[in-house]
Amino acid sequence: MSLAATPLATLALTVFAAGPALAQTASAALMATAATTGVASVPTAVPAGDAQIMRGAYLSKVGDCAACHTVDKSKPLAGGLPLATPFGTLYSTNITPDNATGIGAYSYDDFARALREGVAKDGRRLYPAMPYPSYAKINDDDMHALYRYFLSGVQPISAANHENGLNFPFNIRPLMTVWNTLYLPKGVYQPDPQQSVEWNRGAYLVQGLEHCGACHTPRGVTGQELSFGEQGNSVFLSGYSLAGWYAPNLRSAVADHGGNWSHQDVVAYLRSGRSKDGAAFGPMSEVIEDSTQYLHDDDLNAIATYLTSPAVQTVASTVTQPTPPAAGTQDAVATELRAGHIGSTGAAVYLNSCNACHRSDGTGAMAAFPALAGNAAVNTTDPSSLIHIVLTGSHMPSTDAAPTPVAMPGFGSRLSDQQVADLLSFVRSSWGNHAPAVTSDQVAKVRKIVSSAP
Ligand code: HEC
Ligand code: HEC
Ligand code: HEC
Repeated sequence: MSLAATPLATLALTVFAAGPALAQTASAALMATAATTGVASVPTAVPAGDAQIMRGAYLSKVGDCAACHTVDKSKPLAGGLPLATPFGTLYSTNITPDNATGIGAYSYDDFARALREGVAKDGRRLYPAMPYPSYAKINDDDMHALYRYFLSGVQPISAANHENGLNFPFNIRPLMTVWNTLYLPKGVYQPDPQQSVEWNRGAYLVQGLEHCGACHTPRGVTGQELSFGEQGNSVFLSGYSLAGWYAPNLRSAVADHGGNWSHQDVVAYLRSGRSKDGAAFGPMSEVIEDSTQYLHDDDLNAIATYLTSPAVQTVASTVTQPTPPAAGTQDAVATELRAGHIGSTGAAVYLNSCNACHRSDGTGAMAAFPALAGNAAVNTTDPSSLIHIVLTGSHMPSTDAAPTPVAMPGFGSRLSDQQVADLLSFVRSSWGNHAPAVTSDQVAKVRKIVSSAP
C-alpha cells in the first residue's frame, strides 16, 4: 500500500511521526522488556495428564508470554511490567484467569481476537508492544491449546492493571484502528507447498509465536515491521537496531559467520545460548533463557532448517569478514600488547579494562569469555550492540544445557564516549578484525538511550 496515497496513512503519520524516535514504540518496548525481566517463572497448576493444556503450556513458552506479562516472579502472568517507550510508559496486563482483573471472562473468540487482532474483550485497542502482528499467524489448533491453558491451567491472581502512562496523543487507543488497517497482516500462516513440512513448521514458529521479527525486522516510520515473511523480499529478519542493541541480519547469518553457521550451530545457539564465536548477550540472552531453550528438538530443528535454507539466506554478508592470522604465526597486536607496547588510546583502555578476560590475542577463554577475534558480532557494520555491552555489561543466558550465567561488568561510568570509541575501534581492527571504526557520536547516542531506560 502506498502510504502517501491514503488519508488514513496521513493521519497515522501525523500522529506517530512527531518525535525523534517515534518509530520505536513497540520495538523499544520489546527490547526494554527483554532486557529487564530476567527468568520468567513457570506458571503453575497444570492438571496432570491433560494433553491439550500441557501443549498450551509449552506454546506459552514458545510465545514467551510470561517474560512480558510478569513483573513479580511470585505472581506469574499477572502483568504490570513497565515497558518504556519514547511516548511514555506502557504496562503489560494481567492474563491470569482472574474474573475481575484478568482474562477469566474471555471466551475463546475474545482470546483469539486479542492475540490475532490486538483487541481486548472490552474493545480496548492494544498497542503492538503486545506482538499481535506476529501472533496473527497462530493456527486454530495452537490457539485452542493456548486458550485452554490460560483459562484452565494458570492460577488466577487478583492484580489490578495499571493505567498506561503514554503521553497525548499516543494514549488515544482508537488510533490503533488506523494502524491495524494499514499494517496488520491478515490470516493464519499459509504453508509454502514448495517447501518441506519441517521448513514450514520452522517458518510458522519464527514468523508467528516466536515473533523473531519483532526485533530482527526493520521498522517503518510508524513503528510497523516492514515484512512478516521471507517470501519475495530480503527485508524480513534483515536486522534492526532498537533500544541501543542491534539485532543482526539473519538473512545472511550463514555468510556472516564465514559461511560456517550450520544447522547444528543454530540449534546449539538457541538451546544453550553459546556459539562457536561467543555467547548470546543483551535481549537475545533473555529470549534464549525464557523461551528457545525450552523448545522440543523437532521444533528447534525446524527453526534451524528454515533459517539456514536458501529461501531465507538471500543476502550477502553484512559483516566485514575477518582474516585470522595464518596458522603458526604470532598475531602482531597480541605481541605488542604482551610486550606492553601501547600503540593507541584504544589499546591502553583494552589492556586496562578488557585484557584480563578477553586476552591479548582476543581469543578469550573457552566457554567463559567469548573470543573477540573473528567474532561476527564484533565485525558487524552496526556497532550499537558492542557499545551497549561495554556501557552496561551483560550476562550469558543460564540454560539447562549451559547453566553458568557468566557475566561481563559494565564500564559506562568509568569510560568516556571517546574512550569507548577508541577502544572499540581498536577491537574492530585487531587480531584480523576489519570492521569500520566507532565514533564518539555513535557512543553518545547509545549512552543516551541506555540512561533513559526504566
Ligand atoms: C513483548 C511483550 C509481550 C509478549 C511477548 C506478550 N505480550 Fe500480551 N501484552 C503485552 C502488553 C504490553 C499488553 C498490554 C497492551 C496495551 O495495554 O495496549 C498485552 C496485552 C495482552 C492481552 C490483553 C489482555 C487485557 O484484557 O488487557 C492478552 C490476552 C495477551 N496480552 C496475551 C498474551 C499471550 C497469550 C502471550 C503469549 C502467546 C502474550 N500476550 C505475549 C505484551 C506482551
Ligand atoms: C527481544 C528482541 C529479540 C528477539 C525477540 C529475538 N532476537 Fe535474536 N537477537 C537479538 C539481539 C539484540 C541479538 C544480538 C546479540 C547477540 O548476538 O547475542 C540477537 C542475535 C541473534 C542471533 C545471532 C546472530 C549472529 O549472527 O550472531 C541469532 C541466530 C538470533 N538472534 C536468532 C533469533 C531467533 C531465531 C529468534 C526467534 C526465536 C530471535 N532471535 C528473537 C534480539 C532478539
Ligand atoms: C570480567 C570479565 C570480562 C571483562 C573485564 C570484559 N568482558 Fe567482555 N565479556 C565477558 C563475558 C562473560 C561475556 C559474555 C556476556 C554475554 O554473553 O552476555 C562478554 C562479552 C563481550 C562481547 C560480546 C561478544 C559475544 O559474542 O558474546 C564483547 C564485544 C565484549 N565482551 C567486549 C569487551 C570489552 C571491549 C571489554 C573491555 C571494556 C570487556 N569485554 C571486558 C567478560 C568480560
